[in-house]
Amino acid sequence: MCRFDESTNRVAAAYYAKDDPGNPSLADTVRPAALENDKIESIIAKYEGKPGALIHVLMEVQSENHWLPKEILSAISDRLNVPLSRVMQVASFYKTFSLTPKGRHRIHVCNGTSCHLRGAGELLNSVQELVGVKAGEVDADARFSLETGCCLGSCTLGPEMIVDGEHHGRLSSDRAEEVLKNYA
Ligand code: FES
Repeated sequence: MCRFDESTNRVAAAYYAKDDPGNPSLADTVRPAALENDKIESIIAKYEGKPGALIHVLMEVQSENHWLPKEILSAISDRLNVPLSRVMQVASFYKTFSLTPKGRHRIHVCNGTSCHLRGAGELLNSVQELVGVKAGEVDADARFSLETGCCLGSCTLGPEMIVDGEHHGRLSSDRAEEVLKNYA
């Protein structure tokens, strides 16, 4: 129960499995932007024909796009001459890489025991309402992805939320709204 969603590839496997043309999903609103992104094309072009650069390409695309759609992984496979099975193996091995859609800004709300006792449930409800998605989801504009996780290591500051690596403690619903306004 107490884990970050991106830490398991089963989530990605489930996501890929349900992703078929007859089943439009959130990814359909996220992928076109990735496929039309000139920066991603230039990243792949920079390493064309260089199989040894696979991790570099994946890291740069992850940084640019925040996750790795399967069409992009196929393009990387073709252009770097690396079997798709190898690309998938590397992309699913490292936690740095995400095979599920992520927003430009990543929100983690702590649901550890201490934060729970200090009102994490109420905070999570407020954040879900503010960003319009539930934990484990990304919004249609790919602005925010929301996750919950166990203790973030600063229990005395609970309830706590991290946005893009920045800790925000003792958060009320009003304060959470103020914080999230800073992330476009
Ligand atoms: S329980 Fe939330 S930071 Fe420790």
